[in-house]
Amino acid sequence: MITPVKKAVIPAAGLGTRLLPVTKVLAKELLPVVDRPASQYVVEEASAAGITHIIFVVSRSKDDIGRYFAPDARRLADRDTENRLAGLDALLSRVSVSCVYQDEPRGLGHAVLCAREAVGDEPCLVILPDDLGQADPPLSAQLLQVYARTGKGVLALEQIPRQHIHRYGVIAGRQEAPRTYAISDLIEKPPPGTEPSDLAIIGRYVLPPEIFPILSRVQAGAGGEIQLTHGLPVRQQPPGT
Ligand code: G1P
Repeated sequence: MITPVKKAVIPAAGLGTRLLPVTKVLAKELLPVVDRPASQYVVEEASAAGITHIIFVVSRSKDDIGRYFAPDARRLADRDTENRLAGLDALLSRVSVSCVYQDEPRGLGHAVLCAREAVGDEPCLVILPDDLGQADPPLSAQLLQVYARTGKGVLALEQIPRQHIHRYGVIAGRQEAPRTYAISDLIEKPPPGTEPSDLAIIGRYVLPPEIFPILSRVQAGAGGEIQLTHGLPVRQQPPGT
């Protein structure tokens, strides 16, 4: 039987250097996009896909994320204020949110590994909170549908113009159904001209529990970082980059 996916891991311990200077004092995941913090969109997306437990991976200086997603104990009499909190409160009645710490910025694979205990022996959805997008059905729901059918790890992909694809993890694969590929290899940030396709990993992954022991064996590459891509089971030999 395929275990249903109920937990989502949201890595959010990054330093936010691309958004300096505001990220000196504010977690980039809390920057507002229209009327709510960027990370609220992905929590809503996860909840709509049936996720009931969200695990944020944060650094010690980003506790504000946990505070934002804590159920609001403050009950104000003012009706306008209650209305403003209503959407978030309703979301938090459907999902529980907890935080685990990543004490050093050691890469996306290491961030996911920090959630090992909180996830336990079950599959999880990983959502990168800076990848916001609209899809119908939403990306997380699409991935969970494929997982429920196959029981195999699933990644969200997007066709990216060749001149930008070196910024992503890129797959090699064979199309096996409309908009679905069987992945035979993954290359993290291939040097320009060496990419195996124009299909890039965008920030949604469904990972079986075997990911954790594999990630714990992946060697750190450039800058001491452990890449999630190097732990994904299609790639048995992590390159030493
Ligand atoms: C990460 C992943 C990469 C993926 C990208 C999507 O890279 O390592 O495989 O394509 O997210 O946004 P980052 O953007 O964190 O360098």
